[in-house]
Amino acid sequence: MRILNLQTPFLRTSQILTRKLHLLASSNQLPTCYKAPQILTPLSNSRSLKVAASAEMVKAIRVHELGGPEVLKWEDVEIGEPKEGEIRVKNKAIGVNFIDVYFRQGVYQAEVPFTPGMEAVGVVTSVGPGLTGREVGDVVAYAGRPMGSYSEEQILPASVVVLVPPSVDYKTAASIMLKGMTAHYLVRRCFKVEPGHTILVHAAAGGVGSLLCQWANSLGATVIGTVSTEEKAAQAREDGCQHVIIYSKEDFVTRVNEITSGKGVNVVYDSVGKDTYQGSISCLALRGYMVCFGQSSGKPDPISLADLAPKSLFLTRPSMMHYTSSRDELLEAAGEVFANVASGVLRVRVNHTYPLSEAARVHADLEARKTSGSIVLIPDNDLRV
Ligand SMILES: NC(=O)c1ccc[n+]([C@@H]2O[C@H](COP(=O)([O-])OP(=O)(O)OC[C@H]3O[C@@H](n4cnc5c(N)ncnc54)[C@H](OP(=O)(O)O)[C@@H]3O)[C@@H](O)[C@H]2O)c1
Repeated sequence: MRILNLQTPFLRTSQILTRKLHLLASSNQLPTCYKAPQILTPLSNSRSLKVAASAEMVKAIRVHELGGPEVLKWEDVEIGEPKEGEIRVKNKAIGVNFIDVYFRQGVYQAEVPFTPGMEAVGVVTSVGPGLTGREVGDVVAYAGRPMGSYSEEQILPASVVVLVPPSVDYKTAASIMLKGMTAHYLVRRCFKVEPGHTILVHAAAGGVGSLLCQWANSLGATVIGTVSTEEKAAQAREDGCQHVIIYSKEDFVTRVNEITSGKGVNVVYDSVGKDTYQGSISCLALRGYMVCFGQSSGKPDPISLADLAPKSLFLTRPSMMHYTSSRDELLEAAGEVFANVASGVLRVRVNHTYPLSEAARVHADLEARKTSGSIVLIPDNDLRV
């Protein structure tokens, strides 16, 4: 993989990245990865770049009690001002992810009340004291911690955000930070997909699934995808699945056996969990990888070591946050995702756009399997302009 180090002493990071990406784009030399310099250094005189900061209330979705979509309330909140190492961001597009459902239901623990959401793109409106390398007006994106992106504005540690290249619009960026970086670590690091591999992707038309299938196909794998409807099957085919199984109608284990002539697949990327886990194990080839990265149908039953023994299988339960925990890892993952969007390897499907205030409706649709591709929330004020 080619890594471009864009460190140049007298330019701000935003200028460096913008300039370099423009240069690369105009010369058709799109980066496979860019590596931005470590720029988040405190100023010795604690100079603050804070401008036009306001303590007024902003609108956000709040959860006071765990439960169904109806517990998502549209309220006024005060978010305060950025402290040392932090920035204040006015969100432009917010990515919706299945993990938001887990937190709302209490499958994953969070102290109430809380503002859900783990992905957003926005414009920096204020920079806390003691920080350089970020400035008011920067367009930035983040995915993962801290939770709280279902809000018109939020305070973020500067260390978790990356600059969004000017060629990537807000909705696209909000659709690829968490889902794209998940696809990245799944195919490039957790199990390295290579030409000749046959892989099985469940929920292939979902937010992560769509990007995962496209990326794996571009790496030369034969991709088998499972989906619940004909409409989703058509999308999965367009996204690089050579074989699509409608697992709501067909037994996917039998079909995988037929497709692979009994050999099985090298890896299963299983985000469905309870309903698919046992079948996924059965689909694996000798020394295959079982990558359980989600549980949209519920927690899989406890897994026994004995399940792995008959085929010397590998099992992992990974999290994107553990693959982007250092600043270098984050920049590398985001860089590869943005580069793949720019080069057309990833065609981002923003299939659903809702006003932020209607997050409850979004969650209901997501849980009812009515969505495909990515879902973004747009702050209501931005929809009115
Ligand atoms: N570990 C990580 O690092 C990581 C990071 C991101 C996401 N994830 C996981 O990846 C999965 C996909 O996330 P996403 O945000 O992109 O969501 P999504 O795939 O857009 O939506 C979930 C999909 O799962 C399928 N599904 C199967 N059984 C389901 C059920 N009982 N209830 C609801 N959905 C069901 C549905 O597709 P069909 O209708 O085609 O069955 C549904 O559209 C989630 O499990 C999420 O937790 C994990």
